[in-house]
Amino acid sequence: MSTRILATSPLVGPALPDLGARFPDLRLAPFRSPEWNAALPEVEALVVLVSEPLTEADLDAAPRLKAIGAYSVGVNHVPVAACRARGIAVVNTPGVLTDATADLALTLLMALTRRVAEGEALVRSGAWRGWAPDQLLGAGLAGRACGILGSGPIGQAFARRVRALGMAPIFWDRADQGGEVDFGLGRAPRLPLAELLPRSAALSIHCPLTDQTRGLLDRAALEKLPAGAVILNTARGGIMDEDAAIDLLEAGHLGGVGLDVYEGEPRVNPRWLQAPRTVLLPHLGSATVETRAAMARLLCEGLATALGA
Ligand code: DGY
Repeated sequence: MSTRILATSPLVGPALPDLGARFPDLRLAPFRSPEWNAALPEVEALVVLVSEPLTEADLDAAPRLKAIGAYSVGVNHVPVAACRARGIAVVNTPGVLTDATADLALTLLMALTRRVAEGEALVRSGAWRGWAPDQLLGAGLAGRACGILGSGPIGQAFARRVRALGMAPIFWDRADQGGEVDFGLGRAPRLPLAELLPRSAALSIHCPLTDQTRGLLDRAALEKLPAGAVILNTARGGIMDEDAAIDLLEAGHLGGVGLDVYEGEPRVNPRWLQAPRTVLLPHLGSATVETRAAMARLLCEGLATALGA
């Protein structure tokens, strides 16, 4: 039985079965299973999840490959330069997950600054003895600056959300060219990182993981944040030095860290589990029914086009 399109898992919604109706030689096999490995020599398209890193050796093993569909906007798990050199199209899912991801970053911001997890745990523990003037006090956001790393669609969508809270967004991006970013509800300055960090009461990461951004928030950078600052990461692990962030949390310098992504995930640095003032989520940025279905649609349309249908 030949395989033209090889996917590692069902996706949300009807798009993948619909693609299978157009390409009857679409098969499902778990990533790196014997079936998946055996199909590589004949496949023309692969569909992989964000948790399934492809290598150049996979491209070598798949000489007929014309397209890779990444069920994500991020493509740091795909050897993009090698694909480009071989004429293999990389299809990803930009645009459709912008609001869902920005919403989740906002969720982390609110959960941290209003101590939602601690309050919930207190009620569930049965130990709550009633309202008290100084119980679980959080930090107000209005009037404060919010640093946003990345001025693309998700960074801008997050800026609109924090603007609605009365915060002042400020941006850093990879072009680092100064000027302003028009984020749809106004304009905000684009600053060098060293200027942005000391002003950021909250800092939210919305840039991709690339050679330029890997380790961008190292210990020295994190130390530039003002006392009590909170950090949110819904982009990728590897951009922030996690051990340095935990040290600064434990030392009381950082006000909180909210993570949806981790370096080396699904492994989670065990220190996070003990660290104070954290909210830890399992990579849920795009996890709404509508968004995941839209991602599947975009992906499957892109693959069909790449295969000349
Ligand atoms: C992405 O799209 O890159 C997210 O991390 C997964 O949806």
